[in-house]
Amino acid sequence: MLVVGPQPSSKPMQSPSTISPGQRRHTLPASEFRPLNTQDAISVFEIEREAFISVSGDCPLHLDEVRHFLTLCPELSMGWIEEGRLVAFIIGSLWDQDRLTTDALTLHKPRGTTVHVHVLAVHRTFRQQGKGPILMWRYLQYLRCLPRVRRAVLMCEDFLVPFYRKSGFKVLGRCAITVANLTFTEMWFPISGHAYMRRNSEAIRFPQLALPLESPSTSEQLDT
Ligand SMILES: CC(C)(COP(=O)(O)OP(=O)(O)OC[C@H]1O[C@@H](n2cnc3c(N)ncnc32)[C@H](O)[C@@H]1OP(=O)(O)O)[C@@H](O)C(=O)NCCC(=O)NCCS
Repeated sequence: MLVVGPQPSSKPMQSPSTISPGQRRHTLPASEFRPLNTQDAISVFEIEREAFISVSGDCPLHLDEVRHFLTLCPELSMGWIEEGRLVAFIIGSLWDQDRLTTDALTLHKPRGTTVHVHVLAVHRTFRQQGKGPILMWRYLQYLRCLPRVRRAVLMCEDFLVPFYRKSGFKVLGRCAITVANLTFTEMWFPISGHAYMRRNSEAIRFPQLALPLESPSTSEQLDT
C-alpha cells in the first residue's frame, strides 16, 4: 500500500529489535489509497448517508449495491484512508455500451471497456480541501494501468458539471437515466496511453490488481 506524506512521529521510532514478537505496532499510515472491500461497505455507506440521503432522501448506491460492486469489482474502487478512517472514495464498475442506461446502475459488465464511475464522495469533514479532485486524479491514473479500459463515464447533476470538467471530463450530453424527478448530464474521460508497463512510476503506485476473469457470473443483476 502506498503511504503518502510524512508519518506523524510524536514518539521516537522503536527499532525492530525492541519490539517483541507478541507486541503490536499501533501506528496507522498517515494517508493511503487502496481498493475497497466489502468490509469497507459500512464506512462507504455512512459517507453516502450524510452526503446524499440527508439531502435528497436517496443515494447513488444503497448498502447492498455497495457490497455488490465491492464483491464483483473491488479493483474498480479506490478509498482514501487517513489514520485508519475512510475520508473519500470512488466506486466504479465496467460497462459495455456507448451511453449509460438504467442497467448500468446495477450491472458490472466484465467485458466492457468503459468504467462507470458510480459515485465519488468525500466525508463532510474533509470537503473543500481539494481531496475529491485529487482522488479522482489518482483513480484516472490508476485506470490507465488496466489494459482494456478505454474511458470512464459518469452521470452527475448539472451543478457538478464544472467540478468534473476541472478533472478533465467532457460532456457527452443528457443522460438517459432519470431518478425520481432528477435528470443528469453524462460525462466522459478518455483513458489513453496505457501505463501498465510503468506500474512503478510515482503517478500510479496503486496496488496492481488484474481485471476479474471474464466469468458470466460477475455480470449478474443485483437482487434488490
Ligand atoms: C462533490 C465533492 C466530491 C467535491 O469534493 P471536495 O473534496 O469537497 O472538492 P473541492 O475541495 O475541490 O471543493 C469543492 C468543489 O466541489 C464542487 N461542489 C461541491 N458541491 C457543490 C455544489 N453543491 N454546487 C456546486 N459545486 C459543488 C465545486 O466545484 C467546489 O469547488 P469550488 O469551491 O472551487 O467552487 C464533495 O463535495 C462531496 O463529496 N459531495 C457530496 C457527494 C457528491 O455530491 N458527490 C458527487 C456526485 S456522485
